Amino acid sequence: HVIDWSPEMAEKAGYDHFMLKEIHEEPGAVRDTLMEMDDVRRIVSEIGEVKRVCFVACGTSYHASFVGKYLFESLLGIPTDVILASEFNYSVRTLTEDTLAVFISQSGETADTLNAIRAANSRARTLAIVNVLGSSATREAQHVLYTRAGPEIGVAATKTYVSQLTVIYMLVAAMGGLDDLVEKLEGVPDIMEEILRDEDGIREMARAYSEAEDFFFIGRGFSYPTALEGALKLKEITYIHGEGYAAGELKHGPLALIDDGVPVVAVAPPGPCHDKTLSNVEEVKARGARVIGVGSRDDASLRNEVDDFIGMDPGVDEVISPLVYIVPLQLLSYYVSVERGIDPDKPKNLAKCVTVV
Ligand code: G6P
Repeated sequence: HVIDWSPEMAEKAGYDHFMLKEIHEEPGAVRDTLMEMDDVRRIVSEIGEVKRVCFVACGTSYHASFVGKYLFESLLGIPTDVILASEFNYSVRTLTEDTLAVFISQSGETADTLNAIRAANSRARTLAIVNVLGSSATREAQHVLYTRAGPEIGVAATKTYVSQLTVIYMLVAAMGGLDDLVEKLEGVPDIMEEILRDEDGIREMARAYSEAEDFFFIGRGFSYPTALEGALKLKEITYIHGEGYAAGELKHGPLALIDDGVPVVAVAPPGPCHDKTLSNVEEVKARGARVIGVGSRDDASLRNEVDDFIGMDPGVDEVISPLVYIVPLQLLSYYVSVERGIDPDKPKNLAKCVTVV
């Protein structure tokens, strides 16, 4: 007998890369994380009432935190800051007893995040949201919630990001008694599965963009963090310069860089800011940009304006969209990476876990 497979191939379960396998594990990761709702409710009652929330994190976990700010402020009216762990020292003195400091970390070992927990513990209530069981963050923070994503091998975070988002939504739902939000969350895994069944279209699309040198990702409100995370994925695994921008900021700088053929990904779910984002799409189109629109599949106004269109379930509103709209952006970066001959699992110069400051 000739053994023509390696243990690593077996671990990839038929996928070419861990990253693709892990994107396909997203529906399951969200489902498993949702099973922790009782735990979330228990922690919320232990923590009690808070007057301010302060998220602290790095990288993709920072972008998950950013969605948290939109949720806490717009649904609960609780003032919320999002601070990079490496910049946290300058904010420590603002923490008070009625502040909930939330530390988000896949690994639970990021040095800057661990230092931030230690600095916050004596001043505020601290909660760590972590994927790796028994990691250092779980021992440092006063309260711990787990994302149930399972081990993530790819350096670029994918399924852990959507799991982190899920815990944040659950936290907000538990704090505000928002049962309708929990219901919306329960619908997310099926919608993700539908996107994953349709990934061939995104693979095709990736081919046309693989030679690009710059990419812009724009979105407003809940789609702004999605734009940031979409741009980060692109940078990490394709080595293409990608920038995420709040669509309303286009006129304040980046519009100067839009030229013939520059790709712009517009994240435009249905909601109050849809029409404004659409007029930003018109602005960049007028300057020659090649636009990929991501919106509701029945959104004819967006579809007609853009060069390429990624159609999403029409039932996904802007509040829940960060969980769903990131999936095609992860796939787009993945396929551009493969098209460029890069190993998306092991991007150059990057590590899965940064244990030095
Ligand atoms: C590194 C990883 C990223 C991750 C970041 C924060 O940069 O490559 O994928 O988002 O660290 O890691 P953490 O484990 O704290 O979430």
